Amino acid sequence: MLKFEFKNPTKIRFGKGQIENLAKEIPAKSKIMMLYGGGSIKKNGIYEQIKNALKDFEVIEFGGIPANPEYEILMQALEIIKKENINYLLAVGGGSVIDGTKFLSAAALYSGDNPWDILKKNIRIDKGMPFGTVLTLPATGSEMNSGAVITRAETQEKFGMGGPGLFPEFSILDPQVVRSIPQRQLANGITDAYTHVLEQYMTFPTQAFLQDRFAESILQTLVEIAPRILKDPSDYEAASNFMWCCTMALNGLIQKGVPNDWATHMIGHELTALFGIDHARTLSIIGPNLYNYKFEDKKEKLAQYAERVWNIKDGSIDEKAHEAIKKTEDFFHSLGIKTKLSEYTNDYEGTAEIISNRFTERGWLGLGERRNIKPSDVEEIVKMSY
Ligand code: NZQ
Ligand code: ZN
Repeated sequence: MLKFEFKNPTKIRFGKGQIENLAKEIPAKSKIMMLYGGGSIKKNGIYEQIKNALKDFEVIEFGGIPANPEYEILMQALEIIKKENINYLLAVGGGSVIDGTKFLSAAALYSGDNPWDILKKNIRIDKGMPFGTVLTLPATGSEMNSGAVITRAETQEKFGMGGPGLFPEFSILDPQVVRSIPQRQLANGITDAYTHVLEQYMTFPTQAFLQDRFAESILQTLVEIAPRILKDPSDYEAASNFMWCCTMALNGLIQKGVPNDWATHMIGHELTALFGIDHARTLSIIGPNLYNYKFEDKKEKLAQYAERVWNIKDGSIDEKAHEAIKKTEDFFHSLGIKTKLSEYTNDYEGTAEIISNRFTERGWLGLGERRNIKPSDVEEIVKMSY
């Protein structure tokens, strides 16, 4: 097992009716900015629940944060935060709203001239404006981690940021919110969480037995509940397990003491930046091809995953590993997710070269758990994904 440090300060309030307890988590007399997305919370009753819970606070609302939170829009919120002397942020939404709020938490206290530098230079954030979240869409794990991903449409760029100052102080997880989530987003959430686990697991063996079993148990639970949640998002028990899997997949726990990959995410973010493809879908396009391309590096873990998650007991390591990649793709297909770039855009020629050039320019010369995925490899992986 590798050496590690672990601290996760986010308080979780999980279960039915927890939104009622929102006021208990925010310091009295806070001046709050409540941030949300395109309006789903106004249709499913979450907005009223929040307004009720916050009736004793001064609240300024900022709605309209789009999926893949957009820098220019967030800059409008930043202006209001400064003008109105806001001192507490509340994100009500999925990964996009929470990530946008994390950026604002950082930008509100940033002393440099240009907040874009936080993203462009990936400046580590040790202190941000305090914030909490009410999660409305299980997927990213952003509700219990300190990372964010922000998009800039003008330049078709999407950059990650983060730091120990960007954990939410609390997150409210009421699985009843899952009821109103459309099929497309349910499938995205399952795929994103599943891939988060794979990024921290599908590497090489390090005798981290517990982490491996944490990871496998999340994968098994997602496979088990996926058909239930797609059939009936108001199935509370399925929704509870779905939500907790997504949080546990990326709250830092399973990544400690083991090698981490994350190349699928880094390449996937470019597909969202270039084509606007949903985050999770970009992962299903890239992931299985990356495993095929890096087969020799990953086959031991692939075979272990085949045995323990998919119950494939027969065959050699190579055979089991190949079967596991196929099972993964089949699983994504079972959710209604397409796994080829050409199924999302006709304009894919040249994409591999664009992405590999971008990585070269940014100095991203060695990705993956062995830091051996060069821009030329990225090019091959993206071509395999057409
Ligand atoms: O905007 P509204 O109207 O609220 O609708 C949203 C949005 O259109 C809708 N939705 C959310 N909750 C709902 C609901 N609809 C009905 N009922 C509800 N209860 O769902 C749509 C998608 O929301 P979004 O927040 O964009 O989805 P997701 O949670 O998948 O977040 C994706 C973003 O997170 C980033 C991605 O790159 C992407 O920008 N990620 C963040 C990570 C992190 N911070 O740790 C890690 C991830 O790997 C990922 O990169
Ligand atoms: Zn993701």
